[in-house]
Amino acid sequence: MAVLKDVFPSLAEVPAEWQLNGFIEQREYLVGGELCTWQGEMNEVMSPVSFSDGDRVKKNIIGSTPLLTEKESMQALDAAVLAYNNGTGEWPTMSLSNRIAHVEQFLMEMKKQRTAVVKLLMWEIGKNLPDSEKEFDRTTIYIEDTIRELKRIDRSNSKFENEEGVIAQVRRVPLGVALCMGPYNYPLNETFTTLIPALVMGNTIVFKPAKYGVLFIKPLLNVFRDCFPKGVINIIYGRGRETVGVLMESGKIDVFAFIGTNKGASEIKKLHPKPHRLRSVLGLDAKNPAIILPDADLDITVSECVAGSLSFNGQRCTALKIIFVQEEIAERFLAKFIPAVNKLKVGMPWEDGVKITPLPEPGKTEYLTGLVKDAEYFGAAVINENGGEVNDTFFYPAVLYPVNAQMKVYTEEQFGPVVPVVPYKNIEEVIDYVVQSNFGQQLSIFGNDPKQIAHLIDELANQVGRININAQCQRGPDVFPFNGRKDSAEGTLSVADALRAFSIRILISTKDNAANKAIVQTIVKEHQSNYLRLDYIF
Ligand code: G3H
Repeated sequence: MAVLKDVFPSLAEVPAEWQLNGFIEQREYLVGGELCTWQGEMNEVMSPVSFSDGDRVKKNIIGSTPLLTEKESMQALDAAVLAYNNGTGEWPTMSLSNRIAHVEQFLMEMKKQRTAVVKLLMWEIGKNLPDSEKEFDRTTIYIEDTIRELKRIDRSNSKFENEEGVIAQVRRVPLGVALCMGPYNYPLNETFTTLIPALVMGNTIVFKPAKYGVLFIKPLLNVFRDCFPKGVINIIYGRGRETVGVLMESGKIDVFAFIGTNKGASEIKKLHPKPHRLRSVLGLDAKNPAIILPDADLDITVSECVAGSLSFNGQRCTALKIIFVQEEIAERFLAKFIPAVNKLKVGMPWEDGVKITPLPEPGKTEYLTGLVKDAEYFGAAVINENGGEVNDTFFYPAVLYPVNAQMKVYTEEQFGPVVPVVPYKNIEEVIDYVVQSNFGQQLSIFGNDPKQIAHLIDELANQVGRININAQCQRGPDVFPFNGRKDSAEGTLSVADALRAFSIRILISTKDNAANKAIVQTIVKEHQSNYLRLDYIF
């Protein structure tokens, strides 16, 4: 063990401002506007940040969360169903400007919890400080943008159309009860980018936090309780099979917002007794390739490929998970890529300039070691010094070369710091890889020849949701559509698209005659309806 030997700190070495100050026992869950206290079995929260204890590394249990049962899960669902009340509840019928006011209140209170949330993100999922702060800030900006976009949509709907003798107005209304589940890598951002649009559109929610990245909700529980009418948002904890299955089997979930694996999503979705009643908004697996053409600018390519494959240790759905490099420039690329990987600082999430941090998933380092061994068996080598070294939850990035189709890492989503590099002779080999892949989220092309890039765009535009030129794959900016094909996604998210995903249009129409016009005019003039109206929300 070389580079990772002393990577973990002792408790005393953790800077005072990031100390946790004790075990966090989190027994509360939110149902029907009440914070209930769970007295049953608890789930231990193990931090990826272990402690050094002399020559040993000690696991670090930082807290615990409830392991609720089907009973509490159903209570949460019943509260959401009651608050929706077949679309007649206070929340779904509330005027849009009042719903927005609730979300604005929530946002204001949420911002006060920034430090507490950021600290817990570092301890629970090992995300470094700048990225944890960015996750928080990006989420608050997303909420502000959502409110702005919703007002814009509402203003543009504040009019009547008159077509073929039919006068009509179109508005957007909620779908019903939404089940929102997020991923551990962006437990705040990716969850809230479905939960907030679902809420503000008038749906009621059952929210189950991700597997890891759970304690950080604790500082927000009161905020959720205080900012929304009872039953509008319900927060449950526990194992998926005990808490989520029963919800879906009830047939009372109308929208399923889930970020995770396609296998997990399919298992839950198929439990719904009336599949046509369920709308799904899913962000799933990906194996985004980088395609490096012979004339690529290697400085740009290397910096984008390092960030693309190893930001947050490669634990991004949008990460570059396989790099195809034209064999003529493979050596030159690797000669720059390897030193750039080796420059990434390893350490604890709060340390200055740290890029590579410990991994939150139990068993992950063993899985990644297995991938490396499998690739070695089929002829690849780890070509960077210390690559694949493990210390407890830490895995030093491994660059594998030359990777081929026999290896698991060629098709499997590693979701971690293993970077497979495949040399190719003919671009058709890469096109074939993308076409045959089970996933279709994004890809990156690195090159300078417009003709060749245009050819690739045209070959691959029907395979993925986004093609990046001389840039890594990424979700943002959030105003752009974020989606995927095949097993990578269902539906499209962006600030505007999410509002559409969690709503349906209601058309209110009448035949164009004097009597009907008079009725409509009276309703509008006297502000008799929340829906049929001409007022503007500024
Ligand atoms: O894990 C998937 C995230 O949505 C990726 O977002 O590309 O901004 O890191 P990002």
